[in-house]
Amino acid sequence: MQQLSVKHLLGIKDLTAEDIHLIFETADNFKQVINRPIKKVPSLRDITIANVFFENSTRTRLSFELAEKRLSADVINFSSSSSSVKKGETLLDTVNNILAMKVDMIVMRHSSVGSPHFLAKHVKCKIVNAGDGTHEHPTQALLDAFSIREKLGDVAGKKVCIFGDILHSRVALSNIFALQKLGAQVMVCGPKTLLPTYIQELGVKIELNLRKALEWCDVANVLRIQLERQTIKYFPSLREYSLYYGINKTLLDSLKKEIVIMHPGPINRGVEITSDVADSKHSIILNQVENGVAIRMAVLYLLAGASNN
Ligand code: CP
Repeated sequence: MQQLSVKHLLGIKDLTAEDIHLIFETADNFKQVINRPIKKVPSLRDITIANVFFENSTRTRLSFELAEKRLSADVINFSSSSSSVKKGETLLDTVNNILAMKVDMIVMRHSSVGSPHFLAKHVKCKIVNAGDGTHEHPTQALLDAFSIREKLGDVAGKKVCIFGDILHSRVALSNIFALQKLGAQVMVCGPKTLLPTYIQELGVKIELNLRKALEWCDVANVLRIQLERQTIKYFPSLREYSLYYGINKTLLDSLKKEIVIMHPGPINRGVEITSDVADSKHSIILNQVENGVAIRMAVLYLLAGASNN
């Protein structure tokens, strides 16, 4: 069996292009499985996985749980809002107590940057990062790149622009790493206040004008404004943001070209994207969600087979 070069999935930054291609090829096989009448394989029958979520989630949590069940793993779910974290228990104590119940793998989402890296240093099991604060969301970037490959045949050579709140987005950073490793050209577009100062060092193109960015790209990955992470005002109002950076059908039609529309969700309809774009034939937003299950099956399967050393 081919193996990943990593023991945990903490971020795309740690993966090689070969790792990503191996995950895609494995996901191709699992995508066939989950489209069969019998959607389950026994691959992780002896493995127990805990989904440990310290932040809200719909897509990622359900997608991991479904991926684990399709692989026949035993699954337990932990949500910090209804746990003893509320009584003061630390992250490490919480995870060590879960591991004492003979759990083999932890899938964790946490608001603190680097928390899965901290866990990987202090506990013995495999860790999958399901999003750490504003840092990385590796499985989202993998499913995004996999969806581009599915739609356009390849990621290499494609022009992908990520629009919106780059500053607070773990999806943006993981996408930039994944797309560049796969040979795509990457641009970011948004108000200057929502572009991090380090962005130039990542080798991406920067465009402040929405129309010019749309004229350049083959694929538009549209991000939500993350108001919950904003402690100061980065733009005057959502109405003004939408006026300058909202993607609508009139604007897209005026470009006279086809652009693949992506969004990691959740969508704020009418802010960063209008419904007639999000639900259009050019949108692959629900394909991204579908592909998330196959990608997460591939990641869990490959990590379970990886050596512990
Ligand atoms: N894309 C994504 O991470 O969505 P959730 O927050 O619903 O998991």
